[in-house]
Amino acid sequence: METYHQDDVSPHMSFLEMLDVLNERLAQKGEEPIAFDHDCREGICGACSLVIDGRAHGPERETTVCQLHMRHYHDGDTIYVEPWRANAFPVVKDLVCDRSAFDRIIAAGGFITAHTGSSPDANAIPIPKEDAERAMDTAACIGCGACVAACPNAAAMLFVGAKISHLGLLPQGSPERERRAIAMVEAMDSEGFGNCTNHFECEAACPKGISVESIARMNRDFLRSSLTPRSS
Ligand code: SF4
Ligand code: FES
Repeated sequence: METYHQDDVSPHMSFLEMLDVLNERLAQKGEEPIAFDHDCREGICGACSLVIDGRAHGPERETTVCQLHMRHYHDGDTIYVEPWRANAFPVVKDLVCDRSAFDRIIAAGGFITAHTGSSPDANAIPIPKEDAERAMDTAACIGCGACVAACPNAAAMLFVGAKISHLGLLPQGSPERERRAIAMVEAMDSEGFGNCTNHFECEAACPKGISVESIARMNRDFLRSSLTPRSS
């Protein structure tokens, strides 16, 4: 751990802006800035990945680090900032970790096969409202990895469950539903993520409020796929 003192933090700054100012000061002094990940700064890309005072994405519920503001802290506070910690997310430098394991899980099955071309008519495939809403709830996952960082087993089941639910709840994603569950769960295991033991820390840390119901859906799809004979 390195200690840095900052004496003019505005309560209106976001957490990342506070780090920007710190890095500018370090650069002016000829010191190396702190490496940290960020992109959209709007809570939608999932890049900002910091454990703040022991909590993935910090103290505010359903808030990414980029949406966390310094008004939640007091003058004189000491704040501990760490990268995500999980074997499957190796630390690259300082606060940056490599989350490409998530990309490989998505590549294994997190897609649908559909003809490209112009977009189909919106009403061509009627979808019950309840299904559409549940699919959209899980589609809110931004792939940040906080669920992994918060889980004592470093499990990625909330992330994988969200992706499997989002696609499998809609008719467009149904043809590959069973193959997808097997492929994504196998990819998750081969990347070295742990298994769920029902701590539910993932749900508490998720900035998008993804429910652990997604994990149950993933387990059901995986079990059904495992019991269904597959043509070679
Ligand atoms: S399930 Fe939540 S915590 Fe996990 S990757 Fe998706 S948005 Fe992040
Ligand atoms: S920087 Fe994109 S979600 Fe935080």
